[in-house]
Amino acid sequence: MKVRVLRQIAPGTEPYWESFDADVPGETSIAGLLDHLNYHDDIVDDHGAKTTRIGWECSCLQGVCGSCAMVINGVPALACETFVKDLKGDLITIRPLQKFPVIHDLVVDRSVIHENLKQMNICIEEYQPEPRESRPEKGKAYLHQYMAAKCLKCGLCLEICPNYGSGEHFFGAIFANDCYLVSARNRSKTAEIKKLYGEHFGSGCSKALSCMDVCPMKIPTIASMARLNR
Ligand code: FES
Repeated sequence: MKVRVLRQIAPGTEPYWESFDADVPGETSIAGLLDHLNYHDDIVDDHGAKTTRIGWECSCLQGVCGSCAMVINGVPALACETFVKDLKGDLITIRPLQKFPVIHDLVVDRSVIHENLKQMNICIEEYQPEPRESRPEKGKAYLHQYMAAKCLKCGLCLEICPNYGSGEHFFGAIFANDCYLVSARNRSKTAEIKKLYGEHFGSGCSKALSCMDVCPMKIPTIASMARLNR
């Protein structure tokens, strides 16, 4: 199979495509494929020309840290959770997330996600559980809080979102889910959260909802939006 990787040596330098030949079993993940390509000291492209190791990042290799987020065959996905056998054809294209500045090859700077959350003060300062008798739907509500809390902050939802990046005040599904989570766990912050949500998500989301298709944790963002509105 052929593997095409969009490479960029350093921030601000010109990106370029480089192709490699690879022969790996279908059960190999894209993370495993990148490891395979990087394995030897004398790395060559598909023309036999010497080149450098492909830069990418990972930590857990089991879909829980979010660091290996990239675009594989045009779809934003985690490299460690995407398998060769599930991709169509003999050509695999891999490029970095485009909504974030490239640091090196497939490594991008996603600090804007945390900076936005910090700037808006979206955090749980004090967990205030509601009294048991006022929680008729507590099972469902807790289940949804658990789902929303699974967010990896990997950035895949922002990569595919048609609204994120088109205006400076739209912060994307990550922000919407965190708003829901904070307001659900600390009712005293609800008014403040509603205002932030309206300004940075509610008025900018066109409901394409492709964020839910690519989310590795399958977080039902639309349910967070509905619960927050309610
Ligand atoms: S390496 Fe942690 S999610 Fe892929």
